[in-house]
Amino acid sequence: MDDLRDKYLGLISDAADEAALEDLRVQAVGKKGEISLKMRELGKMTPEERQVAGPALNALKDEINSALSAKKAALEDVALDERLRGEWLDVTLPGRARRQGTIHPISQVTEEVTAIFADMGFSVAEGPQIDSDWYNFDALNIPGHHPARAEMDTFYMHRADGDNRPPHVLRTHTSPVQIRSMEANGAPIRIIAPGRVYRADYDQTHTPMFHQVEGLALDKDISMANLKWVLEEFVKAYFEVDDVELRFRASHFPFTEPSAEVDIRCSWEGGTLKVGEGDDWLEILGSGMVHPKVLENAGVDPNEWQGFAFGMGIDRIAMLKYGIPDLRAFFDSDLRWLRHYGFSALDVPTLHGGLSG
Ligand code: PHE
Repeated sequence: MDDLRDKYLGLISDAADEAALEDLRVQAVGKKGEISLKMRELGKMTPEERQVAGPALNALKDEINSALSAKKAALEDVALDERLRGEWLDVTLPGRARRQGTIHPISQVTEEVTAIFADMGFSVAEGPQIDSDWYNFDALNIPGHHPARAEMDTFYMHRADGDNRPPHVLRTHTSPVQIRSMEANGAPIRIIAPGRVYRADYDQTHTPMFHQVEGLALDKDISMANLKWVLEEFVKAYFEVDDVELRFRASHFPFTEPSAEVDIRCSWEGGTLKVGEGDDWLEILGSGMVHPKVLENAGVDPNEWQGFAFGMGIDRIAMLKYGIPDLRAFFDSDLRWLRHYGFSALDVPTLHGGLSG
């Protein structure tokens, strides 16, 4: 029996693969295996002999079975190690520069804007691109008959036949996010809301889908002066200039009172834009003090809270900063355009590291 043990334990430990191991199992403990045959011989033994040989054979069988499964596990480990070594991949390797995609100017500018306002304590809010006419219009003090609805060239969603509720719309501006944020968080509040907006319009400076960033700041004592300072800080940081001059032009939006459109002083000398000097003015956004009715519609008490809101075209300020002449090209997915105007994936805009790399 000792010979049998030595023989099989030796063979098992030398087995090269699982197939060899299976052959050994059949040879030793299979139905017609050497150990099994020995067990059959027990019947021919005297009871005394059997009492010794029986347990010994069973123990040997157990020992061989556990040697088999230990070796099987070891072989599996080796196979797995080999596979892992073969499939090894260095995920820290930089991408191949020539095949790397680029960050779209819209994404880049959105990140830049977010970094600047985050530094002034604004967090980012979001809302749906398909919204009800309540959020897009009524809550913002734009009633059904208001000319602003027609001016905005709204895309209306389709309602099923017989469904007479007013249709949802593709949001025409990011202002509905003002309402949703106030409903969710109340006042005080300080948010920006960048995102896609839609209007039925198409020419060199208009596309049916474009991007805006909304700003909203409410507290007990926020005034137009705070609005002016925040916008000046933004424009200086965004255009990376030390000085800017802003012009607040009286305007009208149903959801702000008073309302102002904001222009920045610039020059177009030699065909390139310079911000902060020259005799031209460039309109960049609409703004104002949030209308008391809007606060009320969003569940904020206008006797307690006040503040400003603004809405700015992201595509527009991207075109201005990076000298991109035609808005439509933003959405053509032309690879040459994307390589030319795109940004490196590793060029994350931060205030301390430089916004535009
Ligand atoms: N929602 C306005 C627009 O799309 C911009 C705006 C936002 C104006 C907030 C004032 C306050 O034109």
